[in-house]
Amino acid sequence: MKNVLIVGASRGIGLEFVRQYRADGARVTGTARDAAGLGRLRELGAQALALDVADATGASSLAWPIDGEAFDTVVINAGVYGPRTQGLQAPTAAEFDAVMHVNVLGTMRVLPQLDGALASGAKLAVISSRMGSMGVRTAGGGWLYRASKAALNSVLKDASIAFAGRAICIAFHPGWVRTDMGGTGADLDVADAVADMRRTLAGLGPDDNGTFRNHDGAMIPW
Ligand SMILES: NC(=O)c1ccc[n+]([C@@H]2O[C@H](COP(=O)([O-])OP(=O)(O)OC[C@H]3O[C@@H](n4cnc5c(N)ncnc54)[C@H](OP(=O)(O)O)[C@@H]3O)[C@@H](O)[C@H]2O)c1
Repeated sequence: MKNVLIVGASRGIGLEFVRQYRADGARVTGTARDAAGLGRLRELGAQALALDVADATGASSLAWPIDGEAFDTVVINAGVYGPRTQGLQAPTAAEFDAVMHVNVLGTMRVLPQLDGALASGAKLAVISSRMGSMGVRTAGGGWLYRASKAALNSVLKDASIAFAGRAICIAFHPGWVRTDMGGTGADLDVADAVADMRRTLAGLGPDDNGTFRNHDGAMIPW
């Protein structure tokens, strides 16, 4: 049976990953920060773990509750957007910390905890964003979020080197998806975005390690 871990699975894209992998019969562990999120995971038949990735103690001790697991698929999805700026408006220190602590530091705490919990050839994805790509950037807006996703991409690249030969690690752009973050005017239904990403993950091979992918599998420049 496929064994899946989704970090940041209380709602939106993360919860949809849990729903679809459960519908396929996978054993799924999902994390959420509060009772409502944990309840939604249990309703789907997932194992529910309480985790706030911005909390140093919780995120740095994830290895304990996942001890003995061998995950075939891991998706680190937790993310926040932060201030919806249009120009070069400096974030406050609190805004900077809030976004960077979830999107970057949280992932840097979680990744080392996975070291002993990956099945051979596991697929590991971080949910990044095309907004973090410098290669395709032609517009600004949300520069703190963009900076955090560019930093997350760097973190993913290092993970792909550390886990090379054991796991295939990619950064994903999920598309512009109708969730609380994406809004009602977004292009993609969450079920379609996640179905695309699951298909892309399933098709990855060793040569794909350390790449940045659109939800449909197309390569995105860093
Ligand atoms: N939607 C889009 O168009 C879009 C586009 C590009 C990239 N993305 C990325 O896709 C990912 C999921 O986004 P979404 O659209 O599903 O957004 P969402 O509906 O706002 O959900 C965000 C998820 O992240 C979790 N989260 C936030 N802070 C956390 C923390 N400190 N610890 C643990 N979990 C935390 C939330 O949990 P709580 O319920 O506890 O807050 C929630 O499960 C994010 O990384 C986002 O940047 C989304």
